[in-house]
Amino acid sequence: MKSLDDLQVAGRTVLVRADFNVPLADGPDGSRVITDDGRIQAALPTLAFLREQGATIVIVCHLGRAKGEVVPALSLAPVAARLGELLDTTVTLVPLADAVPVVAAAQPGDVVLLENIRFDARETSKVTEERQALAAELAALADVYVSDGFGVVHRNQASVTDVARLLPNAAGRLVHKEATVFGGIMADPARPFVVILGGSKVSDKLGVIGNLITRVDRLLIGGGMAYTFLAAQGHGVGTSLLEADHIDTVRGFIEQASERGVELLLPVDFVVADAFAADAATQVVDADAIPDGWMGLDIGPRTRELFASRIADAGTVVWNGPMGVFEMEPFAGGTLAVARAMADSSALTVIGGGDSAAAVRILDVDEDRFTHISTGGGASLEFLEGKTLPGLAVLEENA
Ligand code: 3PG
Ligand code: MG
Repeated sequence: MKSLDDLQVAGRTVLVRADFNVPLADGPDGSRVITDDGRIQAALPTLAFLREQGATIVIVCHLGRAKGEVVPALSLAPVAARLGELLDTTVTLVPLADAVPVVAAAQPGDVVLLENIRFDARETSKVTEERQALAAELAALADVYVSDGFGVVHRNQASVTDVARLLPNAAGRLVHKEATVFGGIMADPARPFVVILGGSKVSDKLGVIGNLITRVDRLLIGGGMAYTFLAAQGHGVGTSLLEADHIDTVRGFIEQASERGVELLLPVDFVVADAFAADAATQVVDADAIPDGWMGLDIGPRTRELFASRIADAGTVVWNGPMGVFEMEPFAGGTLAVARAMADSSALTVIGGGDSAAAVRILDVDEDRFTHISTGGGASLEFLEGKTLPGLAVLEENA
């Protein structure tokens, strides 16, 4: 995989695929407001380098799932404004259809942002020729392609894979760093290798658990997915999240872990509530004693200590998925405890994108105390599943 240092960019126009798929909320005046700009911050090293080198930058990215329709609420206007603030320059937002003259007039150091590429149905088309037609339009705007949207490298889409084949290409700083960190962990992790999985659905993580169980020393399970594990052990889970269809698969994982000598740790206690609400009545109960009519919304205090002790002496810790409903203050303690234990550990610590990365920022844990906070939720999971990521494989084709 080539890096930015292998490319000639001075005086050239560089098409950068970024992932600025940031969370948005409605602002007081009806405008859309970015609630976590982590993915924009993460692109700055590449963009700053390209500007210093005297490149003209054209950025292509998506926001949400527009499915080929122009959806005003998914405009990149808030991203253009925030990126402009961070780079201290004007970022010109333009639909692809109007981009040719705008890019032609741009000067070295200028930044042009193409409007949400998923407004064009060809971006995510399953028909190769349709994607290639869009890729050709994108490629015609630039001399060089830089892949820096790690969050989207697991997608075979026009602006991710097809366009990379049409121009000299390289990984940007972010993609290079992410691929190096995850590649190193999968190839030769410092041991004990500990993975902490949470989040609401065990069905999202079946592939990850199946692959990791052959590689890790310890697997710590929390969050909504833990209740399906409890059910597989024959415990009642009250009204907690349960994916009954997956109980057998999960039971298989429990058996596999014990055969392989993998320490599979499930919560030993929970914070349960009588409703899914921040002001619900709560109590702490043992894992085998969740009362009927109550739902588990966080791991309990003994589990937090247990997990922290298994993180403290690790060589590598990878974490994906919150331990509880951290967005509600009474159920944030488990997620905060795991984040703090990782921050205190001297292991190589990696947070696998998405909700866990947002949790670290929302709960105000110092991001600098982790080795790496991934910008890719789905992409980092596919890495942990051992899959080939098309947006990275394409960069090797002409390396
Ligand atoms: C993400 O946020 O997961 C990435 O930006 C990819 O988006 P997608 O899941 O809609 O393809
Ligand atoms: Mg996704």
